[in-house]
Amino acid sequence: MPLVTVIGDGQLARMMQQAGIELGLTVRLLAGSGGSSAAQATADVWLGQYTEEQVVREISTGADAVTFDHEHVPNAYLEALIDEGVNVQPQPSALINAQDKLVMRKKMREIGAPVPPFAAIEAVDDATGFFDATDGAICLKARRGGYDGKGVWFPATREETATLVADLLEQGVPLMAEQKVRLVRELSAMVARTPSGQVEAWPVVESVQADGICYLAVAPAPVATEGQRRIVEQAGLLARQVATDLGVTGVLAVELFETEDEAGQPEIIVNEL
Ligand SMILES: Nc1ncnc2c1ncn2[C@@H]1O[C@H](COP(=O)(O)OP(=O)(O)O)[C@@H](O)[C@H]1O
Ligand SMILES: [Mg+2]
Repeated sequence: MPLVTVIGDGQLARMMQQAGIELGLTVRLLAGSGGSSAAQATADVWLGQYTEEQVVREISTGADAVTFDHEHVPNAYLEALIDEGVNVQPQPSALINAQDKLVMRKKMREIGAPVPPFAAIEAVDDATGFFDATDGAICLKARRGGYDGKGVWFPATREETATLVADLLEQGVPLMAEQKVRLVRELSAMVARTPSGQVEAWPVVESVQADGICYLAVAPAPVATEGQRRIVEQAGLLARQVATDLGVTGVLAVELFETEDEAGQPEIIVNEL
């Protein structure tokens, strides 16, 4: 049976094991601990750290494909594997857009996907300038490593912005800023794409977060008006376009903001991948 190496031991790797059974694939798992979510459900478990290049190389040897349940494996390790002929999916050129929010924002703008105004933050002045330009509607983000709202800040004043940014830059956190948007609600569009370019989509979901953590997902996303029906349809099409334009292999989640324009018409903006 084709052997798929999965790096990462969370709930997504656990679901891959389940899907692999139906597809006749064997999963080999790199897990940080034997009690992790995916390790509990997988027969072929290797214990080790994805941050160690030698470990990633060894578990990838002989696999028909190598994939992940998170976006944190260093791209340099993956490039080296690809150079050695290993079939790594998705490829680092797509993965980088899930790893670095500033790279992602630029890429979304390049392919014509709707994004909020944003800027790179390399100095305190960049941030206070952005605060002024947006009339204080600033959302500060760590470019890398964030999840569950860790790495997202909404400073209320110019002074708070300056202090926070000085502090984060001193800690070496790479930063960006974007406009804080007025959310009507948040949507999430999941699509899957094959290496040959076939794309299929799941129904668009509404997600509700508290303090940056998703605690409720409503599937399919409720549609109350004709405007919302169009927005949900647009969200699905956008996710297909993003998967295609970025050359994604596997499953991609596009997080979206539903907002309103000045005339009260619903609008859609890409949040993150
Ligand atoms: N520009 C923004 N305007 C308003 N709310 C935002 C903005 N960016 C993020 N948020 C809120 O913070 C949550 C987490 O932000 P996100 O960039 O998705 O980070 P994470 O990687 O932690 O999921 C979002 O789901 C949303 O509720
Ligand atoms: Mg998010």
